[in-house]
Amino acid sequence: MTNLKSVTPETLREAVEIIKRGGVVAFPTETVYGLGADATNGRAIAKVFEVKGRPAINPLISHFTSVKDIAKHAEFTPLALELAEHFWPGPMALVLKRVDHSKISDLVTAGLDTIAVRIPNHPVALQFIERCGVPIAAPSANSSGYLSPTRAEHVVMDIGENVDLILAGGPARIGLESTVIDARGKIPKILRLGHITEEDIKRVLGLDEIENDIDSEKPQSPGQLLKHYAPKTKLYLNQSKPHDADGAFLLVGPDMFTGACAKKMNLSDTGDLYEVAANLFAMLHQLDKEGYPSISIMPIPNQGIGLAINDRLRKAALKQE
Ligand code: TXA
Ligand code: MG
Repeated sequence: MTNLKSVTPETLREAVEIIKRGGVVAFPTETVYGLGADATNGRAIAKVFEVKGRPAINPLISHFTSVKDIAKHAEFTPLALELAEHFWPGPMALVLKRVDHSKISDLVTAGLDTIAVRIPNHPVALQFIERCGVPIAAPSANSSGYLSPTRAEHVVMDIGENVDLILAGGPARIGLESTVIDARGKIPKILRLGHITEEDIKRVLGLDEIENDIDSEKPQSPGQLLKHYAPKTKLYLNQSKPHDADGAFLLVGPDMFTGACAKKMNLSDTGDLYEVAANLFAMLHQLDKEGYPSISIMPIPNQGIGLAINDRLRKAALKQE
């Protein structure tokens, strides 16, 4: 019997029942698939950490459907409200001060006095969260350290047997995790790069400079400390040709490569970086499964969302060293 089910009114109801009983449900969002559980139920959250093999020091993002609901658990600053207005629902998580009487489990926040919150932009995610009637803590639905899932099948292959239900809702449109921003002060501080870029944030806020914590020695976001997103196959970044003649090659832009390789795939033949982001994890999953001696990837321009893509790739390659 499979626990992978496409979204219907019945399977959605089943998903909500599972959450109410303290189970875990994988569900689609516009960024990546999440592994959801009731954020106020410590036992359910412990199961999320167990299924992922995630270190308990790494806090989870809580998902909501409205700013009003979030305000029961987190303190909004004027900056946070402005960001929320522009980017929610959407691929942004805000780190805010946690309110004292919040019923969210300390496991979700890893004992910090802050909390990460997000309103996703996906009809299934929003319906699911709304009907659960509780905040849904959801890390990406992959085992800790492996590639994030952008399709339901990725969840099945990785942690499928330990998840109570996987709601299949098609490929994730964005394919890269949300941008995490500390919005407790007056100036936003980017803690994790994502689909929403530094330029996007500066533009909507009318700021010339914002802070970022990406290359800091002591990152404020515990997740940034850990090596991430890595396939099992050896990765070679910034390659103009495949490292191995029997390896796989991921291209970007028009295909001018005529040399030898076992398999070529194009992340975006027009060189569109948003398309690259949407395809990256899915193509890495596929090549990883097909089992080549190596995967070589062409250079990705380090601008706009390319910064977030290169950040993920660097972390992936680092993990393998
Ligand atoms: O796009 C996404 O954000 C996906 C979907 C499912 O919403 N979720 C996701 O969750 O990527 P996860 O757990 O894989 O990444 C959450 C990141 C981690 O780097 C974690 O350290 C950081 O957010 N984080 C969570 N709470 C935090 C806090 N209170 N302060 C700083 N960083 C925090
Ligand atoms: Mg993750």
